Amino acid sequence: MKVAIDGPAGSGKSTIARMIAERLGFLYINSGSLYRAISFLALREGIDWRDIDKMISLVKKHHFDYLADGSVLVDEERLEEELRTPEVDAIVSQVSAIPQIRSEVNSIIRKISEGKDVVSEGRDITTVVFPDADVKLYLDASPNIRAERRYHERLEKQVPAKNEGERVASISIEEIRKNIEMRDKLDAQKPIGALKIAEDAIYLDTSDLTIEQVYDKVYKILRARIAHGR
Ligand code: DC
Repeated sequence: MKVAIDGPAGSGKSTIARMIAERLGFLYINSGSLYRAISFLALREGIDWRDIDKMISLVKKHHFDYLADGSVLVDEERLEEELRTPEVDAIVSQVSAIPQIRSEVNSIIRKISEGKDVVSEGRDITTVVFPDADVKLYLDASPNIRAERRYHERLEKQVPAKNEGERVASISIEEIRKNIEMRDKLDAQKPIGALKIAEDAIYLDTSDLTIEQVYDKVYKILRARIAHGR
């Protein structure tokens, strides 16, 4: 069974996808993490993301997989916190806008998912990666709410900032909101793989819902689909 979830940053899709995958024993695939892993590798290996040929060789040179906890495995290396730094944030939108990189990522995700029950989430999972998914969901929330969620997430995780001693927590909600709106724009403008609401997706506005309430709704939808023979 394939469950596909799309939505903008901060819509709750990663948290929900992870919870649902855990509950149903499905593999959790966060496609944004793959774009982040490629961005991270480019930075580490000193590759300019604008050099498309080198970027494609970079992707082909490494082996990508997902661990049960949702982290990305590149060759033998588990990547998680490294993928959420300001340096990766600064280039991941551009990296994910490269059509050839999108096509590589889509192939990797489809290959990993082959013959498995998966919950996959991102921006184009319901429209491009798994257009035939058994269940399609689009999670949304207002930019203000999404900024608040990201702010609290960062406070909790205390992701180290670029400058020694500085904490991301010192970034205001307003700055995060501006960043989210900028990324929404970039995501919507992508020539390929732009964030869209699939015609056959179930649309859920999570602005006024707690994560538990969203989870309950999504879980009920999935149980109903499973009970009706998918
Ligand atoms: O969800 P995220 O912030 O980790 O995603 C990182 C970037 O990758 C973000 O700029 C959107 C992009 N992305 C994409 O273009 N297509 C996807 N399926 C998933 C993420």
